[in-house]
Amino acid sequence: MIVTVTPNPVLDRTLTVPRIVFNEVTRATTVQLDWGGKGFNVSRALQALGMESVAMGFVGGATGQTLERGLNDLGIATDFVYVAGETRTNVVVREADSERYIKVNEAGPTVQAEEVFAFFERAIEKARPGDIWVLAGSLPPGVPAHFYAQLIGLLRLHRASVFLDSSGEPLRLGCAAAPYLVKPNAIEATQVTRIEIRPLRSCRPQGSLEAAKHFLHQGIELVALSLGADGLLLASEEQAVWARPPAVVARNPTGAGDALLAGIIWASVRGMPLEEMARWGVAFGTVSASRKGVGAGTRAEVEALYGQVQTTCEPTDGGG
Ligand SMILES: Nc1ncnc2c1ncn2[C@@H]1O[C@H](COP(=O)(O)OP(=O)(O)OP(=O)(O)O)[C@@H](O)[C@H]1O
Ligand SMILES: [Mg+2]
Repeated sequence: MIVTVTPNPVLDRTLTVPRIVFNEVTRATTVQLDWGGKGFNVSRALQALGMESVAMGFVGGATGQTLERGLNDLGIATDFVYVAGETRTNVVVREADSERYIKVNEAGPTVQAEEVFAFFERAIEKARPGDIWVLAGSLPPGVPAHFYAQLIGLLRLHRASVFLDSSGEPLRLGCAAAPYLVKPNAIEATQVTRIEIRPLRSCRPQGSLEAAKHFLHQGIELVALSLGADGLLLASEEQAVWARPPAVVARNPTGAGDALLAGIIWASVRGMPLEEMARWGVAFGTVSASRKGVGAGTRAEVEALYGQVQTTCEPTDGGG
């Protein structure tokens, strides 16, 4: 079983208007709702390839129900802890024929200590040996920074594999609890390791292997350091694989990291070696970055891109 955890979900509401005008009523020509949240994105990307997962997290109120229904309608099972507040809605008002938009993000409800406790109880009930748990995104107000670290400790006791994708303090503390895999992007990796990662066109980004080793030395088995247009460094104690995508037009890189993580999981469940995991990850991520909306793309698109990913492998301690 695959479980995705999205502690801080959001309903994205995009209203398209002919023109943004102030102090007047404007009518929306289209309204689009998206179930935002990094774990949900992973669930959707897996779903697109026929792989089931259960989405967990904190939701609240009518917006929480809308999110739950939206995911269920896509065929994704949910097991949410309902909190007292209302799940946040982020609103984007965009003009039909321009690049102009206004985006307003809500802070969201403060999760209470009992609600965090209820989540842990639910997780203990669910955790099974060999399952994959994806912990993804930021934490909502009220959830302590060591939430992921505690959850990783608990899931490790139940011999589940944890894949962690977060940032800042929750990521730093989570890494110290030694998840199976961690997926920082370059900025997130630098926040934790203090090692600067600089792109070197057509070569391995400077600092990337050093940063990956920093995570490995914490007892993490696999580090997936995503590097935007430069692709990915996927490293274990034994092997480092650089996977580079072809040049594409990045229409919407938001969520590309979530698609990449789904690709790595997809390949890992199939027992593929590290190099293949890196290639599939980059294929998923790059198709997602090149699409307009936040979406993982079809199997055919991913397969076509997979053939264009270039990899180089070397021993992790081979002098880098
Ligand atoms: N401009 C781009 N061109 C080609 N591929 C890209 C581009 N941006 C992202 N990708 C692909 O997506 C993967 C993940 O991207 P990135 O490192 O930006 O993740 P991220 O910052 O975690 O994204 P997010 O958190 O918004 O999902 C990359 O490894 C790469 O395969
Ligand atoms: Mg990311």
